[in-house]
Amino acid sequence: MAFNIAIDGPAGAGKSTIAKRVSGELGFVYVDTGAMYRAIGLYCVMNNIDISDESAVVGELENIDVDLKYIDGVQCVLLNGENVNGLIRTEEVSRAASVVSGYAPVRTYLVSKQQQIAKNTDLLMDGRDIGTVVLPEAPLKIYLTASSEERGKRRYLQLREKGEECDLAEIIKDIEERDYRDMHRENSPLKQADDAVLIDSSFMTIDEVVAEILRLVEERR
Ligand code: DC
Repeated sequence: MAFNIAIDGPAGAGKSTIAKRVSGELGFVYVDTGAMYRAIGLYCVMNNIDISDESAVVGELENIDVDLKYIDGVQCVLLNGENVNGLIRTEEVSRAASVVSGYAPVRTYLVSKQQQIAKNTDLLMDGRDIGTVVLPEAPLKIYLTASSEERGKRRYLQLREKGEECDLAEIIKDIEERDYRDMHRENSPLKQADDAVLIDSSFMTIDEVVAEILRLVEERR
């Protein structure tokens, strides 16, 4: 049986950094499901689909194929066969992904892909609904969070490092609004699965979080 690890939590909690480190240590595949929602958001942006019109977006699903491929261990998200990793991290695509991920048929399409991928592979999958919907039987579920102030500070430092002007209060406000949307949407809202282990990384280093997850893996395997 494949050993699946589910990691959920709000934006900016460090899920992808931690998940990459842990999967590297274990030799597991890392699946970033957010990239799949971003690929559908990108499709809508590129094809001028009105993302606020659910039936327009859903009607396009038959023209959309999202898949994952791994090159030297790095996840590449394929949109209709084309690697779009370089196009999915813009603000515009983030916004589009956030809207289209609220539509049930979009979720059904991607959840079934994700379940297919997880079937026979030891992996670590991160997202918002992995422990609750995608892999409810996963032997290890983590809910990784941190205070909005701490997540805001981390984002602020990242942007400053890139030389971008930004305002900390504004960033924290954005994060809190996004949390609210993720946690209150009708379809698969972000929430901790009953059997998930809560890790609050507000006052933990990356190394400490990684060590804690590796310890939990040893315990459950
Ligand atoms: O983790 P991320 O920011 O790359 O995710 C992009 C968007 O997709 C974000 O608005 C949350 C949504 N998402 C989701 O609804 N379910 C998932 N399993 C992963 C991401």
